[in-house]
Amino acid sequence: MPDPTDAGPGPSQPAPQIPDPSSGLPISPTPVRQLQAPDLQACLALDGAALGGFWSESQWRSELEGAGRLCLGIDAANSGAPAGLVAVACGWLVVDELHITVLAVHPAGRRRGLGRQLLEALLAGARARGALHATLEVASDNQAALALYGACAFETAGTRRGYYRGGQDALIQWKRIAATESGSLESGAR
Ligand SMILES: CC(C)(COP(=O)(O)OP(=O)(O)OC[C@H]1O[C@@H](n2cnc3c(N)ncnc32)[C@H](O)[C@@H]1OP(=O)(O)O)[C@@H](O)C(=O)NCCC(=O)NCCS
Repeated sequence: MPDPTDAGPGPSQPAPQIPDPSSGLPISPTPVRQLQAPDLQACLALDGAALGGFWSESQWRSELEGAGRLCLGIDAANSGAPAGLVAVACGWLVVDELHITVLAVHPAGRRRGLGRQLLEALLAGARARGALHATLEVASDNQAALALYGACAFETAGTRRGYYRGGQDALIQWKRIAATESGSLESGAR
């Protein structure tokens, strides 16, 4: 089975430099890697910084250890953050669909391509495991995430009214990730 971490940028692509908020020194992201049980505390720390505490420890443990899960991350050397994790993306493989459950980049590392890199790696990993489609829910007022999903050819396939605690609608995002017979990737709504 192919390793999803192979989907990162090739060695010819220079890693973007991110200023470390604690020291002001530039930090260098490392390639995408698969996250595992020992990454639990780093995931919790990043969750707190990027998502305000989205998942509990037991939820993160399930995500890291559960069957059918795909959990990828990017570290930044010398970041000063616990284990240096600056970006995380997770999903569940359900039959031929990837259900993306979280995508988050540390506030200090945003708009440097890390979210897109990780999302693409997650899609590639799911595709390598036989997924044909990817889906997720995003709050209708999350402009950054909607812009990223749009840039990655996701389309809005439906709306869940008042889905979030704050009353925002959830926009269901959908993307076909299977290769066509010609070898190119299709994108399109369900
Ligand atoms: C959404 C999120 C993951 C994006 O990560 P990121 O690393 O900053 O995104 P990237 O740098 O890879 O951006 C890729 C493209 O997405 C779009 N984009 C990303 N952030 C954007 C923003 N704030 N405003 C407008 N467009 C944005 C742009 O098209 C961007 O390409 P460009 O920089 O060449 O213009 C990040 O903002 C985040 O962690 N937000 C909080 C958690 C969250 O909302 N997760 C999604 C839940 S569904």
